[in-house]
Amino acid sequence: MEITEELRIKNHPILQEPEVQKEVTIFYNGEPVKAYEGEPISAALMAAGIRTFRRTVRRNEPRGVFCAIGRCTDCMMVVDGRPNTRTCMTMVQDGMRIEPQFGFGK
Ligand code: FES
Repeated sequence: MEITEELRIKNHPILQEPEVQKEVTIFYNGEPVKAYEGEPISAALMAAGIRTFRRTVRRNEPRGVFCAIGRCTDCMMVVDGRPNTRTCMTMVQDGMRIEPQFGFGK
């Protein structure tokens, strides 16, 4: 899968222009993804067009961002080898390695 989409909101009729943050690179399944310091992992992945963050145990159903406030656990992924990381509450760091999670994680 080629990750090239850029789905960020650049102009908003109500909100001001976002402050420009330092660009960093995170890796999703080994593929580089552009991100900005201070944003959650889930925001960077969604801007890159990635919607499935984990899959359920019983039915292998896809899950992604649902609440975006750290309550539902639908955004859990494996981050730098750590399973069950809530990506909506975890900020990006340069060089982070992120993988989708299957089931409860190891
Ligand atoms: S989207 Fe619900 S915990 Fe992250």
